Amino acid sequence: MNATTQSKGRLLKISVLRYNPQAPDSEPRMQTFELEETDGMTLFIALNEIREKQDGSLQFDFVCRAGVCGSCAMLIDGRPGLACRTLTKALGKTISLAPLPFFELIGDLSVNTGNWLRGMSERLETWIHTDKRVDLHKMEERMEPELAEAIYELDRCIECGCCVAACGTARMRKDFVGAVGINKLARFRLDPRDQRSDDDFYEVVGDDDGVFGCMSLLACHDVCPKELPLQTQIAFIRRKMVSMGFK
Ligand code: SF4
Ligand code: F3S
Ligand code: FES
Repeated sequence: MNATTQSKGRLLKISVLRYNPQAPDSEPRMQTFELEETDGMTLFIALNEIREKQDGSLQFDFVCRAGVCGSCAMLIDGRPGLACRTLTKALGKTISLAPLPFFELIGDLSVNTGNWLRGMSERLETWIHTDKRVDLHKMEERMEPELAEAIYELDRCIECGCCVAACGTARMRKDFVGAVGINKLARFRLDPRDQRSDDDFYEVVGDDDGVFGCMSLLACHDVCPKELPLQTQIAFIRRKMVSMGFK
């Protein structure tokens, strides 16, 4: 197709919730930007174009642009999702964008998921507990391919925060570990290198801020951009804990 026959793209109207909590005179407001859609346009491309050509003060986060770093999560027409993996052609001509709820707002579409995720990881101690010393000159211990695959599957979490932002329990309990936490717990429980006992493992989530706070709303499962089996993990951990006498 040459320049003379090329058809014009749709005119998109992208409304963004603007608010800078650091600026004393800033008030939350929606600001609408118009731009022409191009082939293969993602929200990442659209937001960059807006920032380059229309408003250099617009705040949003991106690192990898490939659905790997988790930093571009936001509310897209009210639903948590990754801006870099969302094609504008999958949306209507009018699009609304807002920051993920629940997390600390930095400004506009930028939120600090890191603080909360770090606190959750420290509480659940999401690292391998072992007293074995690692000898870097030795081959790693062998693991059955099926087990390695099962661990890898749960390790695909990119800590984007979408599951927590979508969860009704998290709105009521700021220390709720969320599906991301329960998934991490399941991942380390599978890992034979972790020497924690079942009791040590599960008691950190044996209350209403842990597994028993989950009301099975399953929005986490619906919005996870990596399509992790969150529903299965939550059900598995809950059944396991009930069988161990946790209530
Ligand atoms: Fe994101 Fe899914 Fe990980 Fe939740 S479980 S943080 S939605 S990748
Ligand atoms: Fe929340 Fe998912 Fe449970 S949305 S209530 S963590 S099933
Ligand atoms: Fe990394 Fe979107 S920029 S997931």
